[in-house]
Amino acid sequence: MRSAWTGVWTGIRVGTRTEAGARTGTSTRTGAATGTATRPGAEPQTAAAPRAGAPGQAEPILDVKGLAKRYGKTFALAGVDLEVAPGETVVITGPSGCGKSTLLRCIVGLVQPDAGRIMFEGRDVVALPYREILGIRRKIGFVFQRFNLIARLSALDNVALPLVGAGVPPEEARERAQRALARVGLSGAVARRRPGELSGGEAQRVGIARALVTQPVLMLWDEPTASLDPILVGEVLDVMEDVAKAGDTAMLIVTHEMKFAARAADRLVLLERGAVAEEGRPEDVFANPRSGVGRKYRRLLQQ
Ligand SMILES: Nc1ncnc2c1ncn2[C@@H]1O[C@H](COP(=O)(O)OP(=O)(O)OP(=O)(O)O)[C@@H](O)[C@H]1O
Ligand SMILES: [Mg+2]
Repeated sequence: MRSAWTGVWTGIRVGTRTEAGARTGTSTRTGAATGTATRPGAEPQTAAAPRAGAPGQAEPILDVKGLAKRYGKTFALAGVDLEVAPGETVVITGPSGCGKSTLLRCIVGLVQPDAGRIMFEGRDVVALPYREILGIRRKIGFVFQRFNLIARLSALDNVALPLVGAGVPPEEARERAQRALARVGLSGAVARRRPGELSGGEAQRVGIARALVTQPVLMLWDEPTASLDPILVGEVLDVMEDVAKAGDTAMLIVTHEMKFAARAADRLVLLERGAVAEEGRPEDVFANPRSGVGRKYRRLLQQ
């Protein structure tokens, strides 16, 4: 079981962790990372608004500075600064290709950035050796767009897997997995089914239970409803909102569901061409968008 779980992460790992020395420093809130990318036409970032649901002066659990990543001529990230407070819910959105997934993948060490730092609980993920990255991942839940469940395992065993991989005895792991499944509204026979026997909404809720089961301090969600039939989107958004309201886990959610963002997010961050174009409380961004991308997303909310 341990090797299967390790394989889930290592199998999708991108890049190497040998480039840590290539970092060239950090950027200011308005600039791109030193010596990396510039972003022509970028509008200035606005200061972060006070966070409604998050402890005011708490040390950020996640503090990203000057994060840059280039693929050939494409600047996937061009100097991103982002802080997340303990328990805070931050929604990230922006046009396709603006770097949302790359940002999340850098945070869990799946992609090695070219520049910048990612402080998680006070340690720089970018500079950590791979062995220690695995320890960090146990504290960060990741919900993918396409579920990424293991087809030959039941829903229950999929959820128990990260615990078993971390050395929790199988009996205890299954009990905790049952509780995580109940938290996302799945119990009874559904827990014994394999992913191929679940609806898209159920499969995604299993994916959420798997991310929740380790009681992460930070959860990253990469378009968790994008693969779902519109009818099933609502059931997954409800689960996400419940987790956000529980307030014990900080959440960084990539989604285009602006009504959800307006309801559940403490802060909305708009990315454009690899950098933050605008951020603030959703109600402030939607009432008075300052960037072109902000105005576009306001129109989405009004539809
Ligand atoms: N492994 C890779 N190799 C080459 N280019 C990549 C790679 N990963 C991402 N890119 C490029 O980097 C840019 C940012 O990609 P990313 O997946 O982060 O965007 P995104 O905002 O998540 O987009 P979407 O909304 O479509 O999911 C895109 O131009 C993409 O084509
Ligand atoms: Mg993406």
